Amino acid sequence: MSEPQPIYLSDYRPPAYRVTHTELTFDLDPAATRVKARLHVERHPDREAGAPLELDGEQLALKAIAIDGQPLGEDEYALTERGLRVERVPARFLLDTEVEIAPEDNTALEGLYQSNGMYCTQCEAEGFRRITFYPDRPDVMATFSTTVIGDAGREPVLLSNGNPVERGELPGGRHFVTWEDPHPKPCYLFALVAGDLKKVEDGFTTAGGRDVTLQIWVEEENLGKTDHAMASLKRAMRWDEETYGREYDLDLFMIVAVNDFNMGAMENKGLNIFNSAAVLTHPDTATDAAFQRVEGIVAHEYFHNWSGNRVTCRDWFQLSLKEGFTVFRDQCFSADTNSAPVKRIEEVSFFRTAQFAEDAGPTAHPVRPDHYIEIGNFYTLTIYEKGAEIVRMLRNLVGWDAFRRGSDRYFERFDGQAVTIEDFVACMAEASGRDLSQFLRWYDQAGTPEIDAHGEYDYANGVYRLVLRQRTPATPGQPDKRPLHIPIRLGLVGTKTGRDLPLTLDGEALGTDGVIHLHEEEQEFVFTEVAEAPVPSLARNFSAPVKLHFPYSREDLAFLQTHDSDGFNRWDAGQRLALLALDDLIAAHRNGVEKVMDGRVVEAFRALLAAEPDDKAVLAEMLTLPSEAYIAEQQPLVDVDAIHAARQFVKQSLALALRDDFLRVYEANRREAPYAPEPEQIGERSLKNVALSYLMSIEDEEGIELARRQFEADHNMTDVRAALTLLVHSSRDDLADPALRAFGEKWAHDPLVMDQWFSIQVSRPQSDALERVKFLMDHPAFSLTNPNKVRALIGAFAQNRINFHRADGEGYRLLADVVIELNRLNPEIAARLVTPLTRWQRFDETRQDLMKGELERIRGEALSPNLYEVIEKALA
Ligand code: PHE
Ligand code: ZN
Repeated sequence: MSEPQPIYLSDYRPPAYRVTHTELTFDLDPAATRVKARLHVERHPDREAGAPLELDGEQLALKAIAIDGQPLGEDEYALTERGLRVERVPARFLLDTEVEIAPEDNTALEGLYQSNGMYCTQCEAEGFRRITFYPDRPDVMATFSTTVIGDAGREPVLLSNGNPVERGELPGGRHFVTWEDPHPKPCYLFALVAGDLKKVEDGFTTAGGRDVTLQIWVEEENLGKTDHAMASLKRAMRWDEETYGREYDLDLFMIVAVNDFNMGAMENKGLNIFNSAAVLTHPDTATDAAFQRVEGIVAHEYFHNWSGNRVTCRDWFQLSLKEGFTVFRDQCFSADTNSAPVKRIEEVSFFRTAQFAEDAGPTAHPVRPDHYIEIGNFYTLTIYEKGAEIVRMLRNLVGWDAFRRGSDRYFERFDGQAVTIEDFVACMAEASGRDLSQFLRWYDQAGTPEIDAHGEYDYANGVYRLVLRQRTPATPGQPDKRPLHIPIRLGLVGTKTGRDLPLTLDGEALGTDGVIHLHEEEQEFVFTEVAEAPVPSLARNFSAPVKLHFPYSREDLAFLQTHDSDGFNRWDAGQRLALLALDDLIAAHRNGVEKVMDGRVVEAFRALLAAEPDDKAVLAEMLTLPSEAYIAEQQPLVDVDAIHAARQFVKQSLALALRDDFLRVYEANRREAPYAPEPEQIGERSLKNVALSYLMSIEDEEGIELARRQFEADHNMTDVRAALTLLVHSSRDDLADPALRAFGEKWAHDPLVMDQWFSIQVSRPQSDALERVKFLMDHPAFSLTNPNKVRALIGAFAQNRINFHRADGEGYRLLADVVIELNRLNPEIAARLVTPLTRWQRFDETRQDLMKGELERIRGEALSPNLYEVIEKALA
């Protein structure tokens, strides 16, 4: 195999030929499915005659080929490394091909594959080329007509995009259904599902009066787990009408749950295919977090029907056009249906931990990359989450009304087209009359901007001077960075009154909660008429995806934690305060000095626990210490053991000092109403379980008893899982083992619950975590070909910081072994799984060498393009 070559954005050319209509016939067979394709092809009007027709195709056995009914001779076409090439074609013609493929051998889960005996497809980004020869690029949009032929007994259900228009019996116990999708679409939105599935059906009437049938298709035993997804779907449909004026455009909308799926879910037109983990819920089997995740993903895929499907991407460099916008849309939807501040806190803490780490590592890339080897490697936190943060900044910059006008303009102007990020931003610029040219740099510049801020209050003149200085560290391939347009939402909180002071900047009144715009490398903002000395509250609600440094004292932070009017920054002040204390303790641990707890953190927690909370979910977040991963993000060099020890020390010190408060909070929130995934109940459960985690951190008899009773009460998965995790993560195997055994036996039949069972054990801090992983890899419920299992066992272990980073390198070796096997089975998953090893620069020299050693060992294999690209970057 020749070395994989990068593809460049600057090489983009419109296709020479387009396909206006695609007719497909699938004759299903596990080992030898026949796919007949008839493509209605036209030369692009601007393109010269004589250009060859180039089609993509991988792992296809060509059985027949004809143009306008005339079979082609061997010398009239060529099979190439990329696919199929026909040198001479008319300006307009019908191309017929027939190929054979083997879904049962497809472990990559791209193209047509089998999962639990059923057939399903995954075509984004470039899976359709494993189904038939085709111009597999998103700027070729065609209407589709698809006939699926299957065994009437084994595959009673035959689904594809659009509407069913014909069905019938065939000889030999076969039958068929023909589907027509009237909306032109790129082939990455094609889908087919066939198998013995059962459906749950509901209905929705659009604002415009269209009656839509809603179906969720699952295996029979999962029929009781679809209610929440269906309710979420209907809420999302209504929300998109009310918020964006977007209505559904077919008479049928289907969701299918499959067990083997690389990602969360896929927005195929009219036939969304979901990882079963992203759609199935039941109070007994799914946690509150899972319920919320399902709601968010169902909404996300549904929202793609406009942001992605009706208006799609010109090329894959524009991936964030659909993903950033759609994530932003689903974030807002979830904020509207849940506790909005908690939603934002969760988003940001995840973002700052995981996306910042990506931006700081060897695979850092802009939200719109300018080259890639394997697009499958670019479904990243940067494209999705940072893309969403950029759209959020846009919304805040232009205001909701102009943003909505811009969105309307975008959907109207580009309906049925494949467009670019500039097209989207241009609509926002036109609708708002703002110049967004500097803002566009956010899309092309990788790395996390850092802002160093300092301020000075001039008592005599009532003036507060705020100086902001921005810099973006170099990232691979981008040594020099230019200043960005960064909107900073801020308040000045008066230290006497504890209130937001009115902001006057250059004679202009900004209210008490204003936005300033940083355009230059360094800018000074002079606020006048500032009546008292303030503490600035900066980047409220995380107004930009940046790291903001301000020399806050611990007193300032304690002050902001109680007085800031911005809920997000109140939480963030508490996190910053805890981080300062953790810093000292990390240093103490490294220097072998006795650890001393910072009394200010204890007092801050005491105050939090004493107050009557208005939002329990927010309080639960405020009582949660920064994760080990986030603490690590703040350190110049990561010392996993010191971080773990310091965090554990803080947790135990708080538990010892405030034991009675935690007990009281636990008792006050243990009401056991019938389970509902509603904000108030969720908040109560989070608060109760955070309190329990403190009590269990000191493992006194009362805490243990509460955890044990909560586990045995078996009330709902949120509470059971929280208790089980605490028992399994305790130092007492006499608590861990019986609970694990009971849980494992009870749920042996349920793969999604067994995933949780795997994760809980391998994320325990005890030193046997690695041995457990090895042992569990032979468990009958584990399978290396199922991505959920790989994530639950291997992926979860790689997040277990002290055990994955064992000083003997055994954690790294185990991960590399699995990655090498997955390189053959499922390259996309292999390339994702290897991520923790690529972050070797962050660790001490011994660990660096061990990690690099494993990367080198992987490099010695015959690598898939996916892994090749990641490993080359990691070792560059
Ligand atoms: N487009 C899907 C989404 O974000 C994600 C996905 C990508 C799924 C590639 C499968 C393969 O909703
Ligand atoms: Zn998406």
